[in-house]
This record gives sequence, C-alpha cells and structure tokens, in this order.
Amino acid sequence: MTILVTGATGFIGRHVCATLTSQQHHVVALLRDPTTQLPTLKQQIRQLGGDEHALSAVKGDLDETSLGLQGPLPALSAIVHLGARFAWQLAMAEARRTNVAGSLAVAELARQQQCRLVFISGFMLENHAHLARLGIDTQPGGKTEWPSVYTRAGGYEASKLEAAIRVREFARQHPLDMVEIQPATVSGHSQRGELDPQQPLYQLIANLHTGRLAMIPGSQCHWLPLVCVDGLAELIALACVDPQAPARLLALDPNTPSLGGLLQHCAAALGRKPPRHYMPIPLLRGLLRLPGLPRLMNTWPEALHFIQTTRFDTRASSDYMKQHGLVHPDTDGVLTLCVQHFLCCTQREH
Ligand SMILES: NC(=O)c1ccc[n+]([C@@H]2O[C@H](COP(=O)([O-])OP(=O)(O)OC[C@H]3O[C@@H](n4cnc5c(N)ncnc54)[C@H](OP(=O)(O)O)[C@@H]3O)[C@@H](O)[C@H]2O)c1
Repeated sequence: MTILVTGATGFIGRHVCATLTSQQHHVVALLRDPTTQLPTLKQQIRQLGGDEHALSAVKGDLDETSLGLQGPLPALSAIVHLGARFAWQLAMAEARRTNVAGSLAVAELARQQQCRLVFISGFMLENHAHLARLGIDTQPGGKTEWPSVYTRAGGYEASKLEAAIRVREFARQHPLDMVEIQPATVSGHSQRGELDPQQPLYQLIANLHTGRLAMIPGSQCHWLPLVCVDGLAELIALACVDPQAPARLLALDPNTPSLGGLLQHCAAALGRKPPRHYMPIPLLRGLLRLPGLPRLMNTWPEALHFIQTTRFDTRASSDYMKQHGLVHPDTDGVLTLCVQHFLCCTQREH
C-alpha cells in the first residue's frame, strides 16, 4: 500500500512511519522542507526498526491552500493525518489555520484520491460532559460558538475539537471512508521509553525532577489517561489497512493509574520524594492566572483540562485491539522506562 503521512517528523509520526514501512508499505511523508527533513527522518526510522528505503517525501504545508502541493501524487491507499500545531498558548487564528483548515484540506485530498482517511483527533472528544461545558454541539449540523470555545479551552485543544467536528461533517457530506483515532496523552515507547521533550508526560516528569511539582493537581480520583507511542502506531497502521476497522477508536489504556499513583511511581524511579498533598484544580487554575507563574511552574492552565475524573468506555476499542493481537503494555513498566530515558537526556544535556 502507498500511504501519505502528515506530521511524519513528529513524535507519533516517526513511530507510525517506522511501523508502516516495517510492514512493507510505502510511506510518502508530507514535509514542509523535504531537502533537510527527509534525510533525518530516514535515519530516525531506521533506528526505530523501520525501512528507510520505503519512505519518500513530498513538499507540502498544512497552512497553504490545497496543502501547497506542487505536482500530482501517486495513487494513495490511505492518508494518516497527524500534522498539527501542538503547543500551549496558541493564538486562535494560528491554531485554526493549521489544525482546522489544514485538516479540511487533508480530508479534501482523501476525497479526491478516494482513499481512506485515518484522522487523529484526541480522547477529549469522548468526554461528553467536558464538551457540553465548553458549549460544543456534537450533533450533525450542530451550532457551536467556536470563538468562545477557544477562550475557554485555549487554541490547541479548541482547534483539535473543531477540526474533528468539521472533518466528521465533511465525511458525512462527501463519500469519505474515514477512521478517527482518539489518542490519550502519549507516553514513551513500551520497550525503550523514548519520549520527546515537548511531550506533556516528559514535562510532567521534568517538573517532578526539578521540584516544581510540590503538590498533586486535582484529587485522588484525577488521572491523566495514557497510551504508549508504539502501541498507538500499531493501531494507526492497522486502521490504514483493515477494511473492517471501526469508524472510531479510542486509544487509551484504562489501567493508567491515578495522577497521584503515576507521580508516586515516577518519583520513585527518579529517586525523589513524591508529592503527597493535593491541590484542587480550580485553585491551581486561579494561581496560574498570576503573571509569570505558568512559566515558573512550567504548567499552563489549558493543560489542566487533560487531568480529569471522567472514566472512558474503552470496551469496543479494547475488543478490536485484542482481536488483532494488540494489548496495552504494563503502564508502570512503561513509566519506569520513560523516567530512565528522561534521566539519560538530562545527563547528556550536562
Ligand atoms: N502527543 C500526544 O499526547 C497526543 C495526544 C492526542 C492527540 N495527539 C495528536 O497527534 C498528532 C501528532 O502529535 P505529536 O505529539 O506527534 O505532535 P508533534 O511531535 O508536535 O508533531 C507535529 C507534526 O506536525 C507537523 N506540522 C506542524 N505544522 C505543520 C504545517 N503547517 N504543515 C505541515 N506539517 C506541520 C510537524 O512538522 P515539522 O517537523 O515540520 O514541524 C510535526 O511533524 C497531533 O494531531 C496531535 O494533536 C497527540
């Protein structure tokens, strides 16, 4: 199969390219600057166990009209859309341009190619109470005041939610074969613990390491649902090729410990004392309104939405994964590896 991947250079994208090429698929990566990005990506894919020879690139940009594609593409069997601006404090216009308009341009390309779109959204789309609180109407043709959602949720999360809802609408209006994958916060590789420094879990470990996380956000019931990057990449690869793949797959390990348990485990692996006391989220959010504090604490108010008490129904996804021999690895083991990887990175920095 020939599969186009957007966001191929990103943390998840690299693992998806490695998995797909190791399964003998040909991957075309949509890159903003193929001349400089492709050689590095090939090297990374080789290190991750993929086949660099099965990877080529095409120049494209989610911010440009029709993705800025300059020539015809080969016939595609599927498109995996991972590309996104992933950052806190994103301005609405910027987030919308890349994450919403870019996603719709990718959906249009899948329609033109008459190929499957494997669209990567996020697990918050299954937190229906949260969506209602933000004022999002998920019904087909529903009306949502998007600018106020951006104010409440911040640019990144709001644009991911808007993109998913608009792309679903596009798929309803056009004959588009789409599988939506909804990942939880991504943890490191299940065997090696690799995790990019920009990833939220890496930041949490860094905050624990530097003593900036003196209290546990939320309560004993709060958690940050996780999924390991290689398991997610395998699920995405399966969604590209399986004609029977369900229309939506929630990629979330229901056995992720509570946030307190997670921090305790990571603190032990770091050789630090774990925080013991809880700070209610509204209080923490209030504190983070003080100028300069988010940077000082390396914690942004919009990131707090992902720490929650909601439990998710993962039965359909878990059954599908089991049917295909995919299982979530032991979370504690993955967390230990992530911490070891973090310590190696910090030692290298010094
Ligand atoms: N990581 C998580 O915990 C998590 C959880 C749920 C969902 N997701 C979703 O999964 C996807 C991938 O996440 P990630 O963690 O792998 O992100 P990442 O490491 O930040 O990678 C983002 C990717 O998007 C590309 N990109 C950004 N702007 C672009 C543009 N204008 N045109 C073309 N490509 C552009 C980047 O390319 P450059 O190298 O050129 O910058 C990079 O390859 C995102 O859609 C994210 O919302 C992530």
